[in-house]
Amino acid sequence: ASSIEVDVSSLTPGMSLTVKWRGKPVFIRNRTPEEIKSAQEVPLAELKDPVARNANLSGDAQATDIDRSAGDGKENWLVMVGVCTHLGCVPLGQQGDFGGWFCPCHGSHYDTAGRIRKGPAPENMAIPTFSFISDSTIRIG
Ligand code: FES
Repeated sequence: ASSIEVDVSSLTPGMSLTVKWRGKPVFIRNRTPEEIKSAQEVPLAELKDPVARNANLSGDAQATDIDRSAGDGKENWLVMVGVCTHLGCVPLGQQGDFGGWFCPCHGSHYDTAGRIRKGPAPENMAIPTFSFISDSTIRIG
């Protein structure tokens, strides 16, 4: 099947897990209030890629924190394909200048919403199609 179901009940704020989906890593992070706040405070004009890149939204949705997250009431959840949009390395979590992800291959820095902020990567990391099918289960794909 092309969709997977992931139990996220063990992820308290500040914890992440990585699952494989269609051969790619998908990062699931239960963000801390500080991480959410720091992403919310970034003016859109500062973003290198202003597009949400969220498969659950229209293609022109902006890269606000809420539209990068799992949405209203679930802003703490970030689900994204863990592949650097430069040349496809897997970024490392909770590293880099913006406290999000850092790609060691050529030095791309992503923020706590997975948005590219510095370095050669052109786009925010992609948000796949997903939904919560219960409070603690996410279906991806
Ligand atoms: Fe990530 Fe080049 S592949 S910076």
